[in-house]
Amino acid sequence: MGIEVVVEGLTKSFGKQRIWRDVSLTLPAGEVSVMLGPSGTGKTVFLKSLIGLLKPERGRVLVDGVDMVNSPERDIYETRKKFGLMFQDGALFGSMSLFDNIAFPLREHTRKKESEIRRIVMERIEVVGLLGAEGKLPGEISGGMRKRAGLARALVLDPQIILCDEPDSGLDPVRTAFLSQLLIDLNAQIDATMLIVTHNLDIAATVPDNMGMLYRRELVTFGPREVLLTSEEPVVAQFLAGRREGPIGMSEEKDAATLAAEAAAPRPQADGPRAIVPQLEPSPGLPPRRAVARRRERVLGMLDRLPPAARTAIQRTYATGGTPGVPGAPGTAGTAAATLPLPATGSGT
Ligand SMILES: Nc1ncnc2c1ncn2[C@@H]1O[C@H](COP(=O)(O)OP(=O)(O)OP(=O)(O)O)[C@@H](O)[C@H]1O
Ligand SMILES: [Mg+2]
Repeated sequence: MGIEVVVEGLTKSFGKQRIWRDVSLTLPAGEVSVMLGPSGTGKTVFLKSLIGLLKPERGRVLVDGVDMVNSPERDIYETRKKFGLMFQDGALFGSMSLFDNIAFPLREHTRKKESEIRRIVMERIEVVGLLGAEGKLPGEISGGMRKRAGLARALVLDPQIILCDEPDSGLDPVRTAFLSQLLIDLNAQIDATMLIVTHNLDIAATVPDNMGMLYRRELVTFGPREVLLTSEEPVVAQFLAGRREGPIGMSEEKDAATLAAEAAAPRPQADGPRAIVPQLEPSPGLPPRRAVARRRERVLGMLDRLPPAARTAIQRTYATGGTPGVPGAPGTAGTAAATLPLPATGSGT
């Protein structure tokens, strides 16, 4: 079962360069969250700070009572084992087969026998749809396959918290749709708390329960997906619509390219209020996401503190067609059914 991650007043600089200041948010247990933000706003630095690889100069990151910023290194090292991390660049060892790459955390952090390691690794390889490629070197497979290998490696230690840094970068639109479904299916199977950093607007619109955005050295906002998706905050609205017009300028170079590419695809109502598309649901045959019922309670409890547009959207989510993913409630079925083979259970924590 996923565990909550509480971030309080986090501030990080490199020398004189301030990356962000006073970031506070809570990743609710077992829920899926997305962090958006133009290139260079410190999203990767944020992920690395959560696992204690980078040290913010102020603030705390609480995971099961351990502060990943200020606790003794030994406690941080132990708590880090609860995380599965999928790095932006895959970070695979070039001279090792996919099998050995994925087995690496097990060999490094556990005393499991090789037969047990083989069983776990092959199960994760199957989950991400890489069966048959386990003997290949990272240089011999496509970028999308390397991404999925990185995800498989993030899963071998049965993490309670999964951090994914741009899991979609370099993927084509169809692979990205499958990846979105895979992330939701994973969440249904292992109930891990997940944080995904992405520039992809489709992932942002269909995958998370919660969303946040880093911009100009601040956390602009973090909350239920409906808050960002209905936000009139110029930065948020511009980013989610993929518009040139707005406060985000060309100086964020890579981001302009990304946004231009996504703006090229026709998007309905790019300038009106953004229609909220339904969140993806687990593929048929999988258990419902356990976080759904918890989230419903949590979000309905904060309703009167939310902006009117978000309130309306949330009421609509929970009023019509039942609660997606809650047993007995008919929701709209996820559109992109995964063809990837997924073990029904067994990888649970
Ligand atoms: N170890 C480091 N030492 C010094 N500066 C760093 C270090 N790591 C990151 N930075 C700086 O922090 C800033 C934020 O970098 P980061 O990689 O977190 O951005 P990002 O939001 O992940 O961008 P992208 O979307 O392109 O991945 C950049 O200006 C970067 O140069
Ligand atoms: Mg990054």
